Amino acid sequence: MNNQHDSTKTYSRRFFIKASSAFTALAFIPQTVKAFCHDVKETFFVKKEIIPLSLKINGKDYALNTDSRTTLLDLLRENLNLTGTKKGCDHGQCGACTVHVDGKRVLSCLTLSATLPNKEVTTIEGLANGDNLHPMQEAFLEHDGYQCGYCTSGQIMSAVACVNEGRTTSTEEIKEFMSGNICRCGAYNGITNAIKSVAK
Ligand code: FES
Ligand code: FES
Repeated sequence: MNNQHDSTKTYSRRFFIKASSAFTALAFIPQTVKAFCHDVKETFFVKKEIIPLSLKINGKDYALNTDSRTTLLDLLRENLNLTGTKKGCDHGQCGACTVHVDGKRVLSCLTLSATLPNKEVTTIEGLANGDNLHPMQEAFLEHDGYQCGYCTSGQIMSAVACVNEGRTTSTEEIKEFMSGNICRCGAYNGITNAIKSVAK
C-alpha cells in the first residue's frame, strides 16, 4: 500500500518537472527565433556601402572606393595584391596580419579600412629601403627567426614596433610584448634573439 502511494507521488513529481520544462522552453521559443532572424539579417543582408578612402600605403598615395565592411587585411591582400601580410586566424588571435598604422602596430584583420582615411600604413613590403633589408629583417635571417615563414611578416612588423616602443629591456619583456604573435613552428628563440640584437 505504501509502495503504491510512493510510486504515485514519484510519477506526479516527474510529470510536474517535465511539464514545467516544456512550458519554459515554449516561452523562450519566440525570443530565440527573433534573435536568430536578427543574426541572419545582420550577417547576410547588411547593406553594402561603397565609400571613398584616401590613404598612404608604403609611401604611395591611394584613392580608393571600398566596401565599408572591408578589413584592412582584405583591402591589402584582395584589392591591392599586397600579400606579404598574412591571414592566419582572421579573429585577432595569431598576429600574422600585423601591420603599422601611423607607426603603431595593429591587427589588420580587426581594423576596418573605413577607419583609416589619411592614415599611413606600412606593411612588410614597405619595410626595406630599396634593396637594403630593414635591420630587423636582416636579424631574422641571421638568427633563424623563422621556419615555414607564415607568421614571419607579422612577427617582423611586431618586432620593429616592440623595439620602437622600448619593450626590450629583458628577454621576459620581449616575450611579453611579442606574445600576440603566435608561431606554429616554435621559432621563438630565434625571434627573441633577433629582436635583442636589433635593440642593442
Ligand atoms: Fe589577424 Fe590572426 S589573422 S590576428
Ligand atoms: Fe612557421 Fe612561424 S615560422 S608559423
